[in-house]
Amino acid sequence: MLRVGLIGCGDIANLNVLGYLHSPKTELVSVADINIKNAAEKLERWGLRSLKVYSDYRKMVDHEDLDIVEILTPHHLHGTMTEYCARAGISGISVQKPLAHTITDCEKIIQVCKEENVILKLYENFRFYPVYVKAKKLLEQGIIGEPLNFRINTIRTGGPSMPLDIKALIWRRKTELCGGGSLIYDDGIHKFSMALWLMGEERVESVYCWIDFFSTVQDSPSNIFWKYPRKNLNDPPKHGSMQFTLAPNLYYPSNYYDCDEFIEISGTKGIMWINQCTSGGNFLSKNPQFPPIVVYTGGEDNSYGEDLPRDWRYSFINSTEHFINVIKNGGEPIYTGEQGRDLCIFAKMPHISYQQNRIVFWEEISVESEKDQSCIVEKPMDVDGAIFRKFLRNIRLDFKKGVKEGLEHKVLKFDKDILLE
Ligand SMILES: NC(=O)c1ccc[n+]([C@@H]2O[C@H](COP(=O)([O-])OP(=O)(O)OC[C@H]3O[C@@H](n4cnc5c(N)ncnc54)[C@H](O)[C@@H]3O)[C@@H](O)[C@H]2O)c1
Repeated sequence: MLRVGLIGCGDIANLNVLGYLHSPKTELVSVADINIKNAAEKLERWGLRSLKVYSDYRKMVDHEDLDIVEILTPHHLHGTMTEYCARAGISGISVQKPLAHTITDCEKIIQVCKEENVILKLYENFRFYPVYVKAKKLLEQGIIGEPLNFRINTIRTGGPSMPLDIKALIWRRKTELCGGGSLIYDDGIHKFSMALWLMGEERVESVYCWIDFFSTVQDSPSNIFWKYPRKNLNDPPKHGSMQFTLAPNLYYPSNYYDCDEFIEISGTKGIMWINQCTSGGNFLSKNPQFPPIVVYTGGEDNSYGEDLPRDWRYSFINSTEHFINVIKNGGEPIYTGEQGRDLCIFAKMPHISYQQNRIVFWEEISVESEKDQSCIVEKPMDVDGAIFRKFLRNIRLDFKKGVKEGLEHKVLKFDKDILLE
């Protein structure tokens, strides 16, 4: 049995733990959190009340003879924590996305894990969402020919959704801790990952972006555009775009975060639409007008993936299972440290574009440009919150009215039956 320890028992720990609770090959032996209350609450919820809790992760690492550590803390801590675990001889380290708040720390993480022979995983779970895995297979079979254009819209809805710790929102607002905006740099990592993986690309060439800080706390609404590198001059240029749409009075139940994703990929022979990810399984999923995947090609449209589980938690369970298998049997984690760093580069580009109002090129985001401060993400400009607060007041009234009129929400229960379904 592989001995597992978690560092950080915040919101995402509830999902990251699932793969370990589910696996016959691992045993969760301890958790660490400076906030003991957070840790105790989670253990109670997972039915593991007697598990050991450390307030200092270093003590856990020193005493528990762990094989795997999951780092689930604010981004500015990922570097130091990974270094400590690696030097202490832990063989498998999984770091929740983004790999770090700076490219400098990403490189440090990669380097130290190499020196200490650590299997390092950047944990990006969308890569394992069953519907996206199916879409990737179809794309590889050439169902729409050569992909030409990628588009993903993330809609920040009004929920209702899972309750979040207010502290988790506060550190994300601080650029020096988060590394960028809480949507583009944090949540965006998943979306940039899809923009590369589904398109069969490893990086982009250049990015342009608009960001509005209307909500005052988040980098949205925003619109990001990019070009993929042209491998061959005879190839058609390939483009992509990403939107973060702010719609906080859109009633849209989710068992997880209050958002959902919609993807469209156009190719030389067809078009693919992928409906939903984070809020998959809600009322929209049950509507036959929104099958998980729709493909138009050759005068016909077909849908795919109706037999797959449309629940975001499977992306976590499957991602962790893949990591456990890599630790046991060898192979490359998804993602590697280098791929994790590249996602951070991609996610920084829109911020620099917005700040400097220009097209930004991949090579510009580097350790050197962080050192000379030519490409560092700055704090968002101050926005007058009064307009947004008024906007929100009206939303809350709309929302109450909706619930009174019978809008319903089913809350996910983290019990063993659900885990073993
Ligand atoms: N894959 C996903 O979909 C997804 C979703 C949300 C968050 N995340 C990522 O997970 C990580 C954690 O995010 P979160 O939303 O759970 O944040 P959070 O703020 O809810 O939780 C962070 C936890 O870390 C603890 N912590 C802080 N400093 C610590 C220290 N020095 N030692 C031990 N514990 C410490 C805090 O007390 C808190 O309990 C981030 O990297 C975030 O981007 C990923």
